[in-house]
Amino acid sequence: MTSPVTAAPSANLPASTPAVSLRAVSKTYYRGGQAVPVLADISFDVAHGDFLALMGPSGSGKSTLLNLIAGIDRPSSGQILVDGIDIAQLSEGELAAWRGSHVGFIFQFYNLMPVLTALENVELPLMLTRLNRKQRRQHAELALSMVGLSDRLSHYPSELSGGQQQRVAIARALVTDPTLIVADEPTGDLDKASATDVLALLDQLNRELGKTIIMVTHDARAAETAHAMLHLDKGELFALESNGKTHSLKTESTTAG
Ligand SMILES: Nc1ncnc2c1ncn2[C@@H]1O[C@H](COP(=O)(O)OP(=O)(O)OP(=O)(O)O)[C@@H](O)[C@H]1O
Ligand SMILES: [Mg+2]
Repeated sequence: MTSPVTAAPSANLPASTPAVSLRAVSKTYYRGGQAVPVLADISFDVAHGDFLALMGPSGSGKSTLLNLIAGIDRPSSGQILVDGIDIAQLSEGELAAWRGSHVGFIFQFYNLMPVLTALENVELPLMLTRLNRKQRRQHAELALSMVGLSDRLSHYPSELSGGQQQRVAIARALVTDPTLIVADEPTGDLDKASATDVLALLDQLNRELGKTIIMVTHDARAAETAHAMLHLDKGELFALESNGKTHSLKTESTTAG
């Protein structure tokens, strides 16, 4: 267990190992015998320390793709390597343990526990670690100080603004010192000023702590904070090049960013 202030590069991996590597990933949901194909044959790499924005129309599969990368859902076929580990091959128990220490997740509607204070919400992911009560508290306090909320430790979510709640959620995503942070429309429910704060924070985590970030967004301003942009449309992924052209990432393996 490392402190949330250490920088990201993962131990004992060749520098060339991508943070995330998708190989021919497809996802089809089945409902009442009916196949709902969502993602088709997607391959791309995200380098360590990259900040990637994922855009595309509603229903194009952005959240599905993010959930696959975060190990919340499993692909129908293909490989998803995070730090060289094929997470699709892990058992349920292994996957849950892996998720707890390797990925921080930020949601559009914060997903904080209403009955827990800001401090307790941030401490929650540490319950699965070997840290004792005092260490958990120290880590959670440090993470909350990093998002500028040291003066709100004992506030409940209902006693915080939307922007503050999202900063608590960012502290919770950060507290286990994950390599990868995935964010699904993190500014989607915020006013412009709060969105600016949240984007500045994500940018800081990326530049100063070297966190790899994959962010789904509909907000062009949010996407500008990222280093690279991918577009998902009808289950197919396109990279946006500097000349403004897009190219499909179907079947080929391409490095984004
Ligand atoms: N559990 C499920 N069972 C069946 N179909 C699903 C399931 N989850 C998602 N889908 C379908 O997969 C498609 C992609 O959904 P997804 O939530 O990934 O879209 P999205 O790009 O994140 O959209 P939005 O921008 O509106 O959040 C949609 O057509 C949706 O109906
Ligand atoms: Mg979505």
